[in-house]
Amino acid sequence: MDSIQKTDNFVFQTYLRQGKAFVKGEGSFLWDEDGKKYTDFLAGIAVCGLGHCHPKITQAINKQASTLVHVSNLFYTMPQADLASKLCEKSFADRVFFANSGAEANEAAIKLARRYFQKKGDKIRFKIITMEQSFHGRTMATLSATGQKKIKEGFYPLLEGFSYVPFNDIEALKNEIDETVCGIMLEPVQGEGGIIPADPQFLKAVRELCNDKGILLIFDEIQCGMGRCGKLFAHELYGVTPDIMTLAKALGNGLPIGAMLATQDAAAGFDYGSHATTFGGTPLATAAALEVVNIISQETFLEQVREKGRYFKDKLVKLKEKHSRVTDVRGEGLLLGMEIELEKDKDAAFFVGKLMKKGFIINGIQDKILRFAPPLIIEEKDIDRLISALDSLL
Ligand SMILES: Cc1ncc(COP(=O)(O)O)c(C=O)c1O
Repeated sequence: MDSIQKTDNFVFQTYLRQGKAFVKGEGSFLWDEDGKKYTDFLAGIAVCGLGHCHPKITQAINKQASTLVHVSNLFYTMPQADLASKLCEKSFADRVFFANSGAEANEAAIKLARRYFQKKGDKIRFKIITMEQSFHGRTMATLSATGQKKIKEGFYPLLEGFSYVPFNDIEALKNEIDETVCGIMLEPVQGEGGIIPADPQFLKAVRELCNDKGILLIFDEIQCGMGRCGKLFAHELYGVTPDIMTLAKALGNGLPIGAMLATQDAAAGFDYGSHATTFGGTPLATAAALEVVNIISQETFLEQVREKGRYFKDKLVKLKEKHSRVTDVRGEGLLLGMEIELEKDKDAAFFVGKLMKKGFIINGIQDKILRFAPPLIIEEKDIDRLISALDSLL
């Protein structure tokens, strides 16, 4: 049996997979088992920000893998301590809780927002308002937080205490506030929902509202953070800071790691025993992530992301001007989306398949949006090649 047959026979059929099995990755490129080379404009869904098998990350993994991999959070380890202090140094936060995925980081944030008030004796504050079209994960609490109906089907009843308002609509948000609200949770740039950036005025108004009402503001930067939008954290584009922020995806450049960062005040919601996970912050994952943060947080690196993002977006906008079926181009940095009008029987997957045949990896979201989230080290000449492939397809 080949890898496709074996996977289809033995792995849960929850993912619609494409193409051949990949066997190798280097920088912005992937190779399949037939030796065909692809240029990667997806980076494992915004995970391999530094590209595949970045030498410094590989070196950090190798060194740590041969020294100490796991001891549990009953003990101290230096890589975890170093990563936590580095993340705090580079952000608004004072404390970090380590998890293993984005959903788990968001679970931690949801639990922290509730416990923050319950610990103070404020037991009626438990509700979290999130945005329509948001995506926060697939565990029961994060699915409940997610503002997209279609992925909730079959899982009701969901967790109580979530409500949803249209993204970028401050009046709708104000109308939803009452004395039961403990948190507002949003992605500064929505990813899965269709690459939709927050409106700067909206984000500022949300911060003010949270200050006025004593509500915790939670930013989910699992997809838009870690340099993806041209700043280490996407909220820096807006000059608005949250009380709690979640990270995952690109934090480990492929090693599973999630993190919840919080101010000292918000972090006081958790005490010894309030929350835990066996694998969170292993020496292996944190040693890799520390190296990732060291590289991505350099201003020269981030400036290059912004430059390439502008270059890429300009080219996409030119395609829009040329082809009437392109209805929108949007996004920040190297998290870009292109909305297209398709013939009746086709969706974005049609374009994804055609591009894959031409040796490019992208993906489609919300049926009609092409998402581009290449490694942040992608070169302009590779962007040019994708643009001309897209041009001929359009
Ligand atoms: C914004 C956002 N939050 C949370 C998640 C969930 O992360 P994970 O798949 O690691 O659980 C994702 C994943 O796509 C995401 O994009």
